[in-house]
Amino acid sequence: MSDAVACPMPLVRLGDVSRIFKVGKQRVNALDHVSLSLHAGERVAVVGASGSGKTTLMNLVGLLDTPSKGDVVLDGISTRELGPTQRARLRNMSIGLVFQQYHLLPQLTAVQNVELTMLYRGATASDARERALEALASVSLDTRAEHLPAQLSGGQRQRVAIARALVGKPRILLADEPTGALDTATSAAVLNLLIRSTGTNGCALVVVTHDLEVAARLPRRIVMRDGRVTSDNGTHG
Ligand SMILES: Nc1ncnc2c1ncn2[C@@H]1O[C@H](COP(=O)(O)OP(=O)(O)O)[C@@H](O)[C@H]1O
Ligand SMILES: [Mg+2]
Repeated sequence: MSDAVACPMPLVRLGDVSRIFKVGKQRVNALDHVSLSLHAGERVAVVGASGSGKTTLMNLVGLLDTPSKGDVVLDGISTRELGPTQRARLRNMSIGLVFQQYHLLPQLTAVQNVELTMLYRGATASDARERALEALASVSLDTRAEHLPAQLSGGQRQRVAIARALVGKPRILLADEPTGALDTATSAAVLNLLIRSTGTNGCALVVVTHDLEVAARLPRRIVMRDGRVTSDNGTHG
């Protein structure tokens, strides 16, 4: 009998990932040999100066971009060899994305924005609508379902975007400066919502933030500088 402790498979593993952008004759090492693991239910802040590679990291974990070197392994699935359709499908099933500028479709109502995730997945119109209304209720916006984004405040738009990210019950919620366009009180409410919606259900949360108060509320903090991770208090290797 072995007394080795079984280490659970990470939800996401970046193995020696680099992302190089070529602009004219210049090469920018936006991410430079980054290795890290993220486990189910973990809550993480990513901090670092502007240009340090935070968004590049999020885009790679979110399967919006592909590494120049190395591999992003999601739930044990190597994503390096996946084609665009398979990547989009894996993203739709596993990943929720929240951005600073909300990225809601302006011509669609709140509930239509949220239900798109389910419709892309092949859900019926009535199932998609039901799930979208549940998700809006979970962010206390069920009374605004028929509003267009322009008819909502910034904080409400971000809550719609969070409902859209959560409606598919993702394994991981990635939020890139989600409170960057919001005032202090609204930022706190949005962060509370992100924290409350993740963790206990196994959904991991990664929040990129400039706000040290936001970062202090998340147990694991990854610090980036010049495309490298310079500090990470994560307990998992
Ligand atoms: N599409 C791109 N083309 C060229 N350079 C890019 C591109 N995206 C990011 N970069 C460069 O990569 C570096 C990291 O950018 P980014 O990940 O956006 O940083 P952060 O989110 O921490 O501000 C920066 O030097 C930036 O200019
Ligand atoms: Mg950024």
